[in-house]
Amino acid sequence: MNKRILTGITTTGTPHIGNYLGAIKPALELASDFDESFFFLADYHAIIKNSNRNEIEQSVKDVALSWLASGLDPAQSFFYRQSDVPEILELSWILNCVTAKGLMNRSHAYKAATALNTSDEDKGISMGLFSYPVLMAADILIFNATHVPVGPDQMQHLEMTRDIAGKFNHSYKKIFELPEAITQEADQIILGQDGRKMSKSYKNIIPLLSTEKVLKKSIAKIVTNSLEPGDPKDFNNCSVFSLYCHFSSDDEQSDLKESYKNGISWGDAKNKLFEKVNEHIIPIRESYNSLNSNKDLINELLAEGSAKVRPMAKELLLEVRDSIGISRIS
Ligand code: ADP
Ligand code: TRP
Repeated sequence: MNKRILTGITTTGTPHIGNYLGAIKPALELASDFDESFFFLADYHAIIKNSNRNEIEQSVKDVALSWLASGLDPAQSFFYRQSDVPEILELSWILNCVTAKGLMNRSHAYKAATALNTSDEDKGISMGLFSYPVLMAADILIFNATHVPVGPDQMQHLEMTRDIAGKFNHSYKKIFELPEAITQEADQIILGQDGRKMSKSYKNIIPLLSTEKVLKKSIAKIVTNSLEPGDPKDFNNCSVFSLYCHFSSDDEQSDLKESYKNGISWGDAKNKLFEKVNEHIIPIRESYNSLNSNKDLINELLAEGSAKVRPMAKELLLEVRDSIGISRIS
């Protein structure tokens, strides 16, 4: 059995440093340890949260460019759009029919949305949101991925995928592998400008694909305390220091710790952080600019990607259909 790694990013908003450090970079680094790697744009997941067509269109492009500019090589990995592989949706329906409603009731994403409602529990909850984990299971199972790198917030969806796959295998035929999650430690979560987890939902992001000027501005917006230059500062629980650690060597971190003790100003600390992040991002930005100027390239790459993966999806789906009795009448 081939070792297959697979992960997707929902195409809402523009990718940020948290997505890059928490999802894109580790997935690309892991790819070399696996026989095959699948990276895709989860655009059907995006319409669960966002109904603005222009935003979705822009985000598909930004997420695709982020993967490519960060080093994804489409000749070495399968890179495609979820919506270009309609077999995923077909499988999703079949999986819906083996998924217990009670399992979905326990989904954190669904529970968090209902918890916001007071009188009508289901206000604003679409069937898309409710069955989101089933679509995610279909994304993974259609290619029988063995390993799925995801953030800690997605662990429950992986457990659900294993449950759903097990239920199908038990009811019909053992077709699906039970995929394993690969996740980073909770302390690897990247903090945003306000000290909470960096997330587009919190509007506290530092964008990945930005100009130097915008990068500098968003780093300047990181909230700090009101200690003056000259006052010793604590590097523990400090978003500036914590972000710096993701882009610097041990020696550089020790130097900055020393500067904190010696009362470095917040402005200077943020400048040091900017220098480090910018240094890391320069090649990504350059690659982004050159890819962005070639409008047809992304469409071509994605079309090639889906042409490569669809035959695999079709083959698996035929087996699934046959096992449930939806096949040629004999
Ligand atoms: P957002 O919270 O901005 O909506 P997504 O949920 O679309 O981000 O996450 C896409 C991927 O990026 C997931 O694998 C997720 O775990 C990872 N990710 C998102 N935010 C962070 C963060 N602050 N730190 C580490 N990883 C993150
Ligand atoms: N739900 C994931 C997120 O929001 C994105 C995603 C969709 C995904 N399908 C997937 C991740 C399959 C891994 C595997 O981050």
